[in-house]
Amino acid sequence: MSSTQTAAITAVHGWLPEDKLTNADLEKMVDTNDEWIRTRTGITERRILKDPTKATSDMVAEVIKGLCVQRGIEPATIDLVIVATVTPDMFFPSTAQLACYKSGAVNAWGFDLSAACSGFLFALRTGGQFISTGTHKRVVVVGSDKMSSIVDYTDRTTCVLFGDAGAGVLLEADPTGDNGIRDAILRSDGSGAEHLRMQAGGSLNPASHETVDAKMHFIEQDGKPVFKAAVTSMADVSYEIMERNGLSADDVSWLVPHQANMRIIDATANRMGVGREKVMINIQKYGNTTAATIPLCLWEWAERLTPGENLILSSFGGGFTWGSIWLKWAMEPTPKAQ
Ligand SMILES: CC(C)(COP(=O)(O)OP(=O)(O)OC[C@H]1O[C@@H](n2cnc3c(N)ncnc32)[C@H](O)[C@@H]1OP(=O)(O)O)[C@@H](O)C(=O)NCCC(=O)NCCS
Repeated sequence: MSSTQTAAITAVHGWLPEDKLTNADLEKMVDTNDEWIRTRTGITERRILKDPTKATSDMVAEVIKGLCVQRGIEPATIDLVIVATVTPDMFFPSTAQLACYKSGAVNAWGFDLSAACSGFLFALRTGGQFISTGTHKRVVVVGSDKMSSIVDYTDRTTCVLFGDAGAGVLLEADPTGDNGIRDAILRSDGSGAEHLRMQAGGSLNPASHETVDAKMHFIEQDGKPVFKAAVTSMADVSYEIMERNGLSADDVSWLVPHQANMRIIDATANRMGVGREKVMINIQKYGNTTAATIPLCLWEWAERLTPGENLILSSFGGGFTWGSIWLKWAMEPTPKAQ
């Protein structure tokens, strides 16, 4: 067992439902318009998992299978699966267990991790520890959310923002000891709960006729304070990780930001001094897919990434939770396969 190994991403895969929900569709559902949505958020369309028999674990299972195909390994050789999600199939068993079963990862243990839009970063950090300590060889980290299952499609302030997706990575020890996860700053502040939450269904407000009537099983957001906190925190932590590792804006090859709002992404890039050409942006196509946004970007950009490139992954989300991870990309350019 060595304590010097870095955990590197050795495969990346995403899964998107086929059905699209466009701004034009939303105009027919609530009092909104394409111009407002695009200028305030940057979103044009999102994907929706319409099949009522499919849930988050099905998206995760597709991601696990895709990772294994890309890496040329059997699912049964995976040691651990961590699923970041706020839309688990059910409270228990965990989505990780269900997805392991559905994908054939029969020898893996696993668990769900709840940190909303920062879920993937929290899970990546956690999964990386199992590699760097040498106790596990193959760890899968997936961010996946079926946001359409908790969005109120009569509430124009939230329903325009979210979409469904799953995406994730395989982590293995980097033989060079140089590429992989190099540093992480992760933070949380539970006082933010009042501004972004889903109130019912848990031990505080178990499901009842009253909670259903009061629409407490839907996501609830007070956009302005969330926006304010996101702009400051995500930018601060992204700058901090550069500073403490001596990385200049030129050293940063890519910023991989959580995709919640184009204005939050721009504020983060500006603070870091990184130009838009080095920022991964796909919010226009998928909206905010919560835990899936960051790995979804990695999957879409993998065909242009080369070993040794410096990536800064940054997020902000419900909790509040936020953070930044510096990693050196380890994979040769890899074409995207659905
Ligand atoms: C949600 C968000 C896009 C709203 O943008 P905003 O510029 O703050 O807009 P406001 O909430 O101030 O609303 C401005 C007006 O637009 C209206 N509005 C809200 N949603 C609308 C919609 N979909 N279509 C049209 N008008 C809308 C509001 O009712 C308000 O009208 P009023 O001035 O008459 O009261 C923005 O606050 C945001 O991105 N917040 C953070 C989201 C986030 O990062 N979440 C993180 C967790 S992942």
